Amino acid sequence: MVFGWLYGKTFSTDDIPNLDGKVAIITGGTAGLGMASAIAMAQKGAHVIITARSESRGKEAVQKIIEASNSSKVEFGVMDNGDLQSVRAFAEWYKQKSLPIHILLLNAGIAYTPYNSISGIEGQFYINHLSHFYLTELLLPIVKTSGPARVVTISSRGIDLVWSKPDWEQDIHVSKEKYDNVRAYGLSKLANLLFVKELTKRLGPDSQIYANSCHPGVIATNITNRSWYAGGYTEKVIQFGLGTVMGNTADKGALTQLYLATSEEVETQNIRGKYFWPTAKEKPMTGYTADEKLQTDLWDISERLVKELLEKK
Ligand SMILES: NC(=O)c1ccc[n+]([C@@H]2O[C@H](COP(=O)([O-])OP(=O)(O)OC[C@H]3O[C@@H](n4cnc5c(N)ncnc54)[C@H](OP(=O)(O)O)[C@@H]3O)[C@@H](O)[C@H]2O)c1
Repeated sequence: MVFGWLYGKTFSTDDIPNLDGKVAIITGGTAGLGMASAIAMAQKGAHVIITARSESRGKEAVQKIIEASNSSKVEFGVMDNGDLQSVRAFAEWYKQKSLPIHILLLNAGIAYTPYNSISGIEGQFYINHLSHFYLTELLLPIVKTSGPARVVTISSRGIDLVWSKPDWEQDIHVSKEKYDNVRAYGLSKLANLLFVKELTKRLGPDSQIYANSCHPGVIATNITNRSWYAGGYTEKVIQFGLGTVMGNTADKGALTQLYLATSEEVETQNIRGKYFWPTAKEKPMTGYTADEKLQTDLWDISERLVKELLEKK
């Protein structure tokens, strides 16, 4: 892996193995990296189930994925990451299908959004991390019996913008006055990464579940639509620069998550609890990403919050 980092290891959709017989759940498959991942996996024969916030978003996306992949094994389930009840309903719906889960790609997300508190919890943390934590908890028994299987979260180098040490309790319950959208995004993405590390630890070294995380690159997608600069000149410049000038399209950005979700190397090289950067290169973890206490605290707090939030309803 170190050699891969130094000597420019790469990965393309041609490297995705045949996925006939594999079942993949992709959260946030209606746009961007999630949709690009869905198309690539469907093209290789996987049965792909995307999540969408509404029936109409789901239908529209499935149609696009079917057309682009030429596969009919694509469907959607409704799930709003901003509502734990909706996450539970999706998991219940999925369980009725009696299907395995070989790939759980936890991709849905928002970035740099204006202040939004969901039941007292900072919105980016809730949508990007907490809902995925709960979904994994609910689906883990199926993933375990489907092994070898993958759990992949999409983190971000936005982690580097967390300047001072996280205090989960305070940061999660931040007030509107003290809210900093950059820090909140970075923390939610740090949570995505620490979550797979803790999951890996809890599953143990012999587990057939390979849980990893990645930063996809800085990619032109709809993620800018809900950010603080949405709709303005800044967004136009960012989109043009990233997409048209640099060629950082969703297809390219999806490659690292596709590597972690599908490549046989992940199993042959026993890649678990790791962080990858584009394209398919291991990124050593330092600072907060290597802090075990933050990791275990995050798990405990997430578990408690899910319980409390569901009891409140
Ligand atoms: N693009 C980048 O440069 C970049 C860099 C680092 C990390 N990432 C991460 O990559 C992941 C995918 O982002 P993207 O760039 O592909 O953005 P995107 O084009 O905006 O796609 C985000 C997906 O998440 C869904 N989503 C957002 N909020 C949701 C909610 N409350 N409930 C359910 N689904 C929701 C969106 O659904 P709708 O279609 O209904 O909006 C969409 O399917 C995110 O986790 C992001 O943090 C992206």
